[in-house]
Amino acid sequence: MAQTKSLSSETNAEAAYLCLQGVSKVYATHDGSVRALEQVSVGARRGEFLSVLGPSGCGKSTLLMIAAGLLRPSSGAVSIDGAPSPARAPISASCSRVPCCWNGERHSAT
Ligand SMILES: Nc1ncnc2c1ncn2[C@@H]1O[C@H](COP(=O)(O)OP(=O)(O)O)[C@@H](O)[C@H]1O
Ligand SMILES: [Mg+2]
Repeated sequence: MAQTKSLSSETNAEAAYLCLQGVSKVYATHDGSVRALEQVSVGARRGEFLSVLGPSGCGKSTLLMIAAGLLRPSSGAVSIDGAPSPARAPISASCSRVPCCWNGERHSAT
């Protein structure tokens, strides 16, 4: 996911309830490594609603899994309410497909 500029740039750990800073994720596969996320920084205040949009394979699910504490980042930091994210964070991340529309076209967010 290189399109980090489309995400909220709120990364102030004091202001953000959920804070991801410089998060990268590389998957090791039999065919080599897959860089799913590179230096993604995003924050969300308590109660704030965020949408993660992008083409298939850009790293949306990986980002949500890391934010939810279900997947460890290869590098970078994740904190919730100012504390390092535990293995399983007390937030939910829906990875189901959600129909949505942008640029006048219908897409699904996964
Ligand atoms: N468990 C995994 N092992 C190897 N590669 C993966 C794994 N999960 C996702 N990927 C790869 O990481 C990239 C991002 O995947 P993903 O986060 O599922 O994107 P999205 O949800 O935006 O479609 C893709 O290239 C995908 O093939
Ligand atoms: Mg997905």
